[in-house]
Amino acid sequence: MKIQTVGIEQRPKVYALLERAFPGSSYEVTLVRQLHGNGTPLHEWVCIQSGRVIAYLAFTNAYHGREVCGLHLAPMAVAPDFQRRGVGSELLRFALRQEAIRNQPLFVLGEPDYYRRFGFEPCKQPLCPFDNNNAHFMSMRSDPASAFTVGYEPAFRSGTSLQKRRRRPR
Ligand SMILES: CC(C)(COP(=O)(O)OP(=O)(O)OC[C@H]1O[C@@H](n2cnc3c(N)ncnc32)[C@H](O)[C@@H]1OP(=O)(O)O)[C@@H](O)C(=O)NCCC(=O)NCCS
Repeated sequence: MKIQTVGIEQRPKVYALLERAFPGSSYEVTLVRQLHGNGTPLHEWVCIQSGRVIAYLAFTNAYHGREVCGLHLAPMAVAPDFQRRGVGSELLRFALRQEAIRNQPLFVLGEPDYYRRFGFEPCKQPLCPFDNNNAHFMSMRSDPASAFTVGYEPAFRSGTSLQKRRRRPR
């Protein structure tokens, strides 16, 4: 298995993966198509096995007002036939070591039991606009003393809310 950044030629394979990993939801594929189409700043990696894209994750800017205050991890997906084999963990641990990521405050809206194992902790502040009371909002290296609602890239607001489509990793 190889981990690499996403070239333009791999984008269709990424969209196909997102459709398979989130059956019944077009939110994730629409989101990533828009991020690509708008030229939104993005850190993204794929796992390739035998020429197939089997996993994908992306980080986009998190905002405090107009200032970038960290990165949001979303979406993250593993092909259904490769789930629960450690692929997602390997990809995420790889991404967390990369220079663009490793010293940044990070945020993720997801299943706390899953993301805790990578160093994310329940986030009291900032508030996530897509979650109720930050129940599933996690962070690392973020300053909890700074109270505000964290911003996302506009593409995140154009589909079903993250809260509605969030799903448990099990
Ligand atoms: C969530 C997801 C990215 C996890 O990737 P993965 O490669 O399946 O996860 P891993 O194999 O690395 O699992 C790591 C741990 O999480 C648990 N886990 C992950 N997915 C699980 C699942 N579907 N069912 C049960 N346990 C799961 C495993 O028990 C494993 O624990 P262990 O190390 O103690 O065995 C992947 O399952 C996925 O794409 N799911 C559908 C899309 C999705 O929900 N994305 C996340 C949105 S927040």
